[in-house]
Amino acid sequence: MKKQRVVSGMRPTGRLHIGHYHGVLENWIKIQEDYDCFFFVADWHSLTTEYAETSGIKDSAREMVIDWVAFGLDPAKCVIFEQSQVAQHAELNLLLGMITPVSWLERNPTYKEMLDNIEQRDLSTFGFLGYPVLMAADIILYKATRVPVGHDQLPHLEITREIARRFNHLYNTQVFPEPEALLTETPKLLGLDGRKMSKSYGNSIFLSETAEETAAKIKGMMTDTQRIRRADPGDPEQCVAFNLHRIYLPQEKLDEIIPACKNASIGCVDCKKILTGHLNDRLAPFRAKREELSRQTELVDDLLAEGSKKAALIATETMKEVRAAIRV
Ligand code: TRP
Ligand code: SF4
Repeated sequence: MKKQRVVSGMRPTGRLHIGHYHGVLENWIKIQEDYDCFFFVADWHSLTTEYAETSGIKDSAREMVIDWVAFGLDPAKCVIFEQSQVAQHAELNLLLGMITPVSWLERNPTYKEMLDNIEQRDLSTFGFLGYPVLMAADIILYKATRVPVGHDQLPHLEITREIARRFNHLYNTQVFPEPEALLTETPKLLGLDGRKMSKSYGNSIFLSETAEETAAKIKGMMTDTQRIRRADPGDPEQCVAFNLHRIYLPQEKLDEIIPACKNASIGCVDCKKILTGHLNDRLAPFRAKREELSRQTELVDDLLAEGSKKAALIATETMKEVRAAIRV
């Protein structure tokens, strides 16, 4: 049977943290085995909010792709490319813009939320309103049938489906399948301070940092705030660090630590040292790989150029069908 086609992108945010890894990247690495996958750097999407300060985007993209490959995304198994190198994304975006009612974009909850929350930048632009149109173009340009996304992206994907349906209907064609979500159930990872792990909060553990940096961060990580003295009993359910123990420790270790915390036979310092050991051991081979990759300066550029060429081949074919359907 023919493999289902998957398309997904990440905006270039630079070095990824472990929340990105367990939230998105790990899933990508898994599904590249079973699906026909296209993964891309959504650098044009970054412009929807960063249009006035673009100097970091290119380097951020490079750092991000090094993480992708070091942690297991394999250019021999999937197509890795850069949105801005495949001009057909813009071409299809233009044409889809013609058929997308503004009301669909204005009622998009992510749009409303960001307009309300981001005050430092003027987001009253055409491009920002059109974010989901460009995303629809990204996806249907490759006729993807599955899109791995988190819950936050579902409204966008719904707009993609509506746009695909409307195109097929208006031009009496079957060019575009309606893509479905490949939902990734991932617990929100908490950062060092107990808030959601996020680069902008400065509470992240980065994939690319050294074992020593990670150790120092975990040493200062919040635990159960009710546990003030070493002799106080603790509760792992209330402990910020323990959300990482759950990911990195084998079950037998967890079964030891939970009662030891509750009866205060283990202190937080030692308990977090155990976490640090497991976390660093798990990331060590990938970190070493990353070191090696980042010494090869041309590698990521070459890889993206090659992937973008492959993507453009398919994009070109789709655009022929699109132009034939529109008859312009
Ligand atoms: N909007 C996505 C995000 O912020 C990034 C993205 C852009 C994307 N185009 C896409 C995801 C196409 C999946 C498919 O995470
Ligand atoms: Fe958290 Fe471990 Fe301290 Fe318990 S002993 S509060 S699980 S760090």
